[in-house]
Amino acid sequence: MNDVTRAAQLLHAGELVAFPTETVYGLGADARNPTALAKIFAAKGRPADHPLIVHLPDASHLGDWAIDIPAAAHTLAAACWPGPLTLILKRHPSVPNLVTGGQNTIGVRVPNHPVALALLHEFGSGIAAPSANKFGHISPTTAAHVQEELGESGEKNVAMILDGGPCAVGIESTIVDMTSATPRILRPGAISADTLRQLLHAPVHDSQAAQQTDNAMHTPRVSGSLAAHYAPRTPLQLCALESLPAAIAAALQEGQRVAVLAPERSPPLPVDQHLIRRIASADFSQFAHDLYATLRELDAAGCDVILVAAPPDNETWRAVNDRLCRAAAGSGSGSGSSQDTA
Ligand code: TXA
Ligand code: MG
Repeated sequence: MNDVTRAAQLLHAGELVAFPTETVYGLGADARNPTALAKIFAAKGRPADHPLIVHLPDASHLGDWAIDIPAAAHTLAAACWPGPLTLILKRHPSVPNLVTGGQNTIGVRVPNHPVALALLHEFGSGIAAPSANKFGHISPTTAAHVQEELGESGEKNVAMILDGGPCAVGIESTIVDMTSATPRILRPGAISADTLRQLLHAPVHDSQAAQQTDNAMHTPRVSGSLAAHYAPRTPLQLCALESLPAAIAAALQEGQRVAVLAPERSPPLPVDQHLIRRIASADFSQFAHDLYATLRELDAAGCDVILVAAPPDNETWRAVNDRLCRAAAGSGSGSGSSQDTA
């Protein structure tokens, strides 16, 4: 029996299987099985009211999970799936409450990874899967990261980790709420607001606009929207490229060990035995691809601070800047109190 067949059998038996997608690794369970779904929350340490994304083999399954699907959602599904786009739709009444966090909406996507697609087709139904990390930590982009995240306390919960190599995209899918008249991006990702506007020939609210118009009654809970998400344990600070040399010098002066993520074309940086440096790509896609693995590596280096040169503040870099800001907001939880909120 090959690994994918065994993984599908484990899912049918109510077990958890971690699997690769093009964005990050997911921690999967049968989306129709409440007992299996409960194991996801236990393994991740995630509050039960945070909804899960259901992964589908293809768009023909949409009607089993969602109702009142607008034409625009079908347009986006046809154009972007398989791919890094999650659609928020009205839930089908048969969907278990644990999937939706008790809300009347559901998040669905078809991932673009051969192992994920093989698993979904073999399984034949929806697989609920959050990112396969502890709640609030950095999402895993390799099978080894999943092992680091869930190996210890999760090993009794996670029956199998499918290894599909490093994830191509590297940051989580774009989430777009299709339940209001104008679609709203709830979490930026590799598929930009502009791309969605071009596909729909219609307006799409981006995530900043969404935050401004949010109100408690109508805002779905998106755990990725908590400030303290995607965080390393070492304090992370974003720093304008021009002020990076001075910031590094000041930290070294204080006797700190410093990790730096900065582009190749940076102003001259100090060379010091207490400084380690990784090169940040000047290309958005490559930067996103490398980001979580690099943050993990720098987090493990035993430094007192991670200084990251802030990428350009524009639409192209929106999703990466979003993750970096959250990492900065939630970092340092190993010694502080923000772990509770992460
Ligand atoms: O790329 C991804 O989306 C990855 C891979 C594994 O597919 N998954 C992922 O799942 O990032 P997770 O659970 O780590 O983040 C999913 C986000 C959460 O912030 C959750 O609150 C939000 O999606 N979400 C899920 N269902 C929702 C709903 N009905 N309404 C609003 N937000 C929802
Ligand atoms: Mg996550």
